[in-house]
Amino acid sequence: MSVAMGGDETGGFVGDVGTAVSKFGFGGEDAPKGVLSSRLGCVFDQNQAYVKGSNGVPLLRELTAEDYKVPDDYPARLHTRSPFVAPPQNQQCVAKWLHGDVSSLGAARFDKGESCVVRSPLVDGELDDWDTIEELWREAFERAKTSGAEQPVLAATPSDATPKHRAQYLELLFETFGCRAAYLARNATLAAFAAGRASALVVDCGAGTTSVVPVVDGYVLMKGIRTSKRGGDHVDAHAHELLTKLCGGTEPVPRAAVRREGRKTYESWPEAFRKFTQRETVRDLKESYGVIPKKWGLAVGLKEDKRQFFLPDGTIVDVTTDLVRAPEQLFEGVEEEEVVKKEEEEPSIKVVRDARVGQRALQPPQIQPPINDPVVAALPEMVKGSLERVDVDVRKDLLLNIVLSGGGSCAPGTAERLHSDVALSLCAPFKAKIVAPAAFERKFGVWIGGSILSSLGSFQQMWLSKKEYDDDGPTRLVEGRWD
Ligand SMILES: Nc1ncnc2c1ncn2[C@@H]1O[C@H](COP(=O)(O)OP(=O)(O)OP(=O)(O)O)[C@@H](O)[C@H]1O
Ligand SMILES: [Mg+2]
Repeated sequence: MSVAMGGDETGGFVGDVGTAVSKFGFGGEDAPKGVLSSRLGCVFDQNQAYVKGSNGVPLLRELTAEDYKVPDDYPARLHTRSPFVAPPQNQQCVAKWLHGDVSSLGAARFDKGESCVVRSPLVDGELDDWDTIEELWREAFERAKTSGAEQPVLAATPSDATPKHRAQYLELLFETFGCRAAYLARNATLAAFAAGRASALVVDCGAGTTSVVPVVDGYVLMKGIRTSKRGGDHVDAHAHELLTKLCGGTEPVPRAAVRREGRKTYESWPEAFRKFTQRETVRDLKESYGVIPKKWGLAVGLKEDKRQFFLPDGTIVDVTTDLVRAPEQLFEGVEEEEVVKKEEEEPSIKVVRDARVGQRALQPPQIQPPINDPVVAALPEMVKGSLERVDVDVRKDLLLNIVLSGGGSCAPGTAERLHSDVALSLCAPFKAKIVAPAAFERKFGVWIGGSILSSLGSFQQMWLSKKEYDDDGPTRLVEGRWD
């Protein structure tokens, strides 16, 4: 289908919602215009909530003290999503979303005795909090002074997103935002396109997870996906521990507490919120001082101007080599017991349809192996594991096109270390080639790939129209069109 809006073909509006950073902008442009923090402050309406009505229809009603009791069987996972207030049993109404520097916005509320929670759209690399995802798109449309109905919308999804989550994404775009045409693309495909390749082994080091994904002719080979929880957040946690030790066991006072009168109430902030604000300081330190030794076991030296770090409250710490090499966590092996083992399920057989011609022609059945839960594994092992799971014919091509993507891959030395460690772990007859685009392109690689794809003339027939959505429904579409 060719989509023409207002007579002109457009590159559409492209969005990549990440765990820490969301990137939005118009297709065809070089860089995303809207780069938003994905972590949003959320203030609940203290008095109202949607509760389950007798026939299952949500009812809006005033909350009572009874509603604030946390039931024994409340899923632990939801506690981590909303760590700063006791979650009520029911879906409480969001009174306000806070964008920008969430830690200081939240701090301002605690100063006034109010509370807020910090929510993130993805948990362990999975699209999880749909309210937050919706709010991020809403803010992006508003900032770009456009809407979903004005041009087609391309959304990047995690490479291993489940059909259920992709169907939910389509519902969000077509039903909540009134899109007239949309497309869902997997992160790794877009990162490969951004590096000028249709086939590549994409190593995406994000904030929530690190993934290794084989892409062949623009299609993700699901069985080769390896995902680990060792992303930027994991590195931050490690660096936080080291920094606290360096400060004699005292947690660094965050910027949000130093500004204005924030310090007054700092001690009474909820523990989880304090930790969240402290991580900003740790992240600054990691991003400006962090390095990865180019070879395993190599020592790193500290440059003259990088021996001391100023904490937000003016305290000076003498940086240690342990601290600057915190990003090396991505390459560290793990103790056996740390690895989350999951029973392998029987692969299910599924009929896939051809998206390339846009006609959904029937193709031979393909084996869809289960996608493992995120595990904690070292990057070179993940590369090895991924290559072992794909056809022998494509391995060499993938090994020669290992593309680095994601903000976490920006630590100096990442490409060299990956090259050296992959050679050690594979002992392959030919050498791996690491494609390391400029830091800017790595940070925004997925978005840039979306921008390129959505503005290609040959792509315009690939948009999914509202009519197709209405005719087929989201569930049938995600199973037939893209997988
Ligand atoms: N120079 C740097 N050195 C090390 N890490 C960095 C650097 N620059 C950014 N990062 C880290 O990259 C992460 C953000 O990267 P990115 O935007 O790719 O993640 P995301 O898309 O939000 O997460 P995900 O893909 O896991 O959902 C953060 O953890 C950030 O601290
Ligand atoms: Mg990402």
